[in-house]
Parts: sequence; structure tokens; C-alpha cells
Amino acid sequence: MANNKKESTSALARNAFVKNYKRMWPYVKPYWFQALLSVLLAMPIGALEGVIAMSLKPYMDLVMIDKSLQAAWYIPLVIVLFTSLQGALTYAANYLNTWVGAKITNLLKLDLYKKMLSFDTNFFNRKNSGDVLIMFNNNADMACAGLLTNLKNFVQKIFTAISLIFVLFYNSWQLALVCVTILFVAFLPMTTLKKKLQSVFNNTLIADSTMMTAYNETYAGNKTITSYNLSDFQQKKFKNILDNVFNLQIKMVQKTRWLTPVMHIILSIGIGAAIWFGSYLVLNNYITSGGFVSFLTALIMLYNPMKGLGSNYNSVLMSFMAIERVFNIMDTTPAISDRPNAREMPAQHRVIEFKNLSFEYNRGVPILKNINLTVQQGQIIALVGNSGGGKTTLVSLLPRFYDPTGGAILVDGTDIRDFTLKSLRQNIGVVFQDNFLFAGSIRENIMLGNESATEAQLQTAIKMACLDDFIASLKNGLDTQIGERGILLSGGQKQRVAIARAFLKNAPILILDEATSALDNKSEAVVQRAIENLMQDKTVFVIAHRLSTIRNASKIVVVNQGEIVESGTHDELMQNECGAYRTLYDMQFKCRTDK
Ligand SMILES: Nc1ncnc2c1ncn2[C@@H]1O[C@H](COP(=O)(O)OP(=O)(O)OP(=O)(O)O)[C@@H](O)[C@H]1O
Ligand SMILES: [Mg+2]
Repeated sequence: MANNKKESTSALARNAFVKNYKRMWPYVKPYWFQALLSVLLAMPIGALEGVIAMSLKPYMDLVMIDKSLQAAWYIPLVIVLFTSLQGALTYAANYLNTWVGAKITNLLKLDLYKKMLSFDTNFFNRKNSGDVLIMFNNNADMACAGLLTNLKNFVQKIFTAISLIFVLFYNSWQLALVCVTILFVAFLPMTTLKKKLQSVFNNTLIADSTMMTAYNETYAGNKTITSYNLSDFQQKKFKNILDNVFNLQIKMVQKTRWLTPVMHIILSIGIGAAIWFGSYLVLNNYITSGGFVSFLTALIMLYNPMKGLGSNYNSVLMSFMAIERVFNIMDTTPAISDRPNAREMPAQHRVIEFKNLSFEYNRGVPILKNINLTVQQGQIIALVGNSGGGKTTLVSLLPRFYDPTGGAILVDGTDIRDFTLKSLRQNIGVVFQDNFLFAGSIRENIMLGNESATEAQLQTAIKMACLDDFIASLKNGLDTQIGERGILLSGGQKQRVAIARAFLKNAPILILDEATSALDNKSEAVVQRAIENLMQDKTVFVIAHRLSTIRNASKIVVVNQGEIVESGTHDELMQNECGAYRTLYDMQFKCRTDK
């Protein structure tokens, strides 16, 4: 029974292995010839190793014993010729190998990157940056380039071994038989490795990803680290990570490196046996002394490829594992994608309805509960309420960062999940509180809103976003570099670049999530003006903590603990003295007068 189970697991593993190999084929296919050639070239390169060992027999027998002058010059010549040929082939093989490896890796990385872009917000919420790097970058490197190089080396070593073993048999089959048997015994322990490696290797990947995340966080969070004096804390955390990586490295050594000395010992037993038995054969004239020297040289030369085969085999296994991981990622279906019959969302809409909408990030923890809201085209809907109430979550469902767990959002009666993601997102502009700007120029960042915008449209967007004065004051104007994440701009400037970007996109639906809350009063006034420009003729969802900025909204919706507790215009809501909005408003008003 247990045996059956073992057998079926290994059959499953074999099937998965074959399946993954088939799936590598499309990536290898455009370069199959070069790939095959680079591996095939490894064969003569390996086989030529046997030449030196082989040539020692005629050299010893003809030059040393028979004193032939002719042989004294042609044997070295043959050696030089063959090793030059071997050198040229090695260069060609390495060149091809690197070329093909890089080409295949790039194809795979491009597909992986496409896959990465197709993942939804939730996927990224659950991964840290280090995981993402390892998943999409390192695995691909290991799967392609690593595999090909290791495969080439593996083949080369196998062929070196075969040619040297041929020399052994050529010189004395009896002696060769003894030594080859010992060699195969030396190889047996290698077959048990894969299972042992898997778990350590997976843990090593996790540790590597933690380390990369730590670097990323230190880079991105350097201000927080400095201002909270977190250097010691971070150092301690980093040291723990390093210790963990160290332990795993040692574990890896414990599990694999015993192989080399064990093989070493077994092989030296082989050499010992060869010398003892060989001397007997020479002394009894079964083989010539030249033959014995050639035999011994081949045997000693065999040690290196045989030793290398062990670690090479490990590396090939690791590449196989990386291939498995790559296709696991490829097989992960993004939680949010186009439905089979999804259609384009029309550019015009009349009404957006949130119908019995509920949502939970984690099963059993409702964040939005039975939300019902109807929004007409051109209306400005302000969402207010306590922190953590679910406002951001609610608007995130519109561009489908997440899908609702109950109910639906309808645009003119059609569930937004029946539109293609691309057309849906084309219809929605978003300005967050903290907008992501890319390293590059101001122009490049704004143009992301609409890559085909004309210069005139760009200038209008800049004007409407109240960025014109600022840009005019810059030496390089629109082409000023803003640094990674726009670090060289102030908060208000960043915000306005994001607003200009949304302007250029000119989508009929607009989401503004606390777009001004991080600004001081002066910048807020400028950004507020920019936002008012942006909101014209659009259906707008605006989230604001400062209630003064949303007074003129068509409808104010108060969201607390995932529910709409009140909705109406400012004047209507202010009439309800005990209402949630009035309470919020009075609190802010009181705070401001207290100041
Ligand atoms: N990715 C996430 N995974 C799990 N829970 C989340 C996630 N994002 C937000 N939440 C939780 O969902 C709830 C609603 O968060 P949300 O950001 O929608 O509130 P909000 O009304 O926008 O708050 P604020 O006014 O502070 O911005 C909070 O309790 C929050 O902890
Ligand atoms: Mg929020």
C-alpha cells in the first residue's frame, strides 16, 4: 500500500516534470538549433580530454622505450593541435550558450512580467517586494540560463568521462573494469539528493526574499528610519535575517557537501587498486609501461569531471525546481480578469448603481455591508465618515482593484464585470492621496494619462492642474527629472502632476481619494482649484476628511463601519442635528475655531 503510494507520487512527479519540459519548449523553440549546438559542442570538447591521456601510451612506448625521434615531434604536435581545437570549440560553445541562455531567459521573463501585470491588487497585497523579485526574476534566470549552462557542463563532463573511460578500456580492459565498478559505486549517493535539497532550497528562497525586502524597505523607508532612530532596530532585524540565511547555507552544505569527500575517498580507493593491480599486469607483461602510464593519467584525469558531476547534478536539479516554480506562477490565474464574453464599456454612461454590495478582504470579516447607492452622470458624490469605515474600499471596487463578495456595481444596468478590464479602467481616472510617480521627467509622468495626447492637450492639462507657474520656474521645464517615486517634488507638486495626468486621461468617471488631505492650506487651495477644474462634466467620487471641500457635492454619503448611515446634500444633512454628518461637521468646525 505504502509502496503503491510512493510509486504513484513518483509517477506524478515524473508527469509534472515531463509537462513542465513540454512547456519550456515554446521558449526554446526559436533558438532550438543554437541551444542544441551549444550542448552538442560540449561532446567533442569533453571527448578531446582523452587525447592527452591517450597520447601518453605511444609517447612512452615509442619515444621513451623504442627511442623513435619521429614520434618525439609528432606526438606533441598532435597534442597541441587537439587542444587548440578544443579551445576553439570551448569558445564557440560558451558564446552560444550565453547567447541562447539570455535569449530564452528574456522570452520567459517577458511572459512572466506580462503575468505579473495581470495580477490583481490582492496578489500584491499578499506578497512583499522580495518575493516578487525572486518569483519573476531569479526563478527565470535559474530556470533558463542556469539550466543551459549546467546542462552544457554536465554533457561536457559526461563526455570527458566517457572518453577517459574509453582510454582506460583501450589500455587494459581488466584494470578498467575494476576501476569503473568502483566509480559507479562512488556515484550511487547522488541519486538520493533531490528530496533532501527541496525543503532547504525553498527555505533559502524565502530567506533571500526577506533580505531583498529588507533592502527595499530601508531604501523606501529611510526617512522613517532616520526620524525614529531605527538604525539599531533595523540592524538587529537585518542581522537576524543574515543569521537565518547563514543557517540555511550551512544546512545546504551539510546536506550536499558530504558528497564530494565521499566520492573522493571512493575514487582514491579506485586509484590505489589500479596501481596495485596495474603493477602486477605490467610486471607480468600483460600491458606495456606506456599503456599503464596512459591508464593512470586517464584515471587521475577522470577525478575532476567525476567530482564536478556531483555539484553539476545539484545545479541541474535546482534549475528543474526553478522551472517548476516558474510554471506554478504561470498557472496561477489572477483573481480578477476578463469574463469570457466581456465587452467594451461604452464611453458614455448615464447611471452607476451599487446594488446590495458587500465586500470582505478576509473571509468572515465584512468590510462593506449591503451598500446601495445610485449615481447619475455628472454628479459629485462625496464619501465621508470615520477612518477605517470602508470609503477607500468602496471606490476601489469600481476600477475592479477587488471584486465584491456580494451584490454588484452596474453601469447603465450592466455589471462592470461584464466589461473588459481595459475599457472599464479607460473610463475611470483616479487620483489618490499618495500617487505613484515614476522615475523620469514631469512630461513622461503626465503623458502616462494619454500617450497620444498632443502638445496643446498637454499644456491645457498643465494649466488646469495649476502646474504652469511651477513648470515655468524650472530650468528644464517639463523635462525636469523628478527622481524615483517623484522624490524631488514637494507633496503638492506631486499631487498636481497626478492631477494633470488624470486631466490628460479625461475619463468620464473620476475617483479622488483624499487628494488634498496631506497638504498645507496654501497648497491645498491650489490643488483644490486644480481638482475643481478636473471634476467638471464628470461623474465624481470624492473622499475627503475636510468637509469644507465637499460642501457643494451633489450628494454626501456617510460611510461608517461598512454601511451607509446617511446620505443627502450638505444642507439636508445639516438639518438633522443628531445625524452623523452634522456631528462630524460640528466637530471639525469646533476644532477649527478652537485653533
Ligand atoms: N488590503 C487589505 N486587507 C485587509 N483589510 C484591509 C485592507 N485594506 C483595508 N483593510 C481594512 O478595511 C477597512 C476599511 O478600510 P478603508 O481603507 O476602506 O477605510 P477608509 O474609510 O478609507 O479609511 P480612511 O478614512 O482612514 O482612509 C479597515 O478596517 C482596514 O483595516
Ligand atoms: Mg481611505
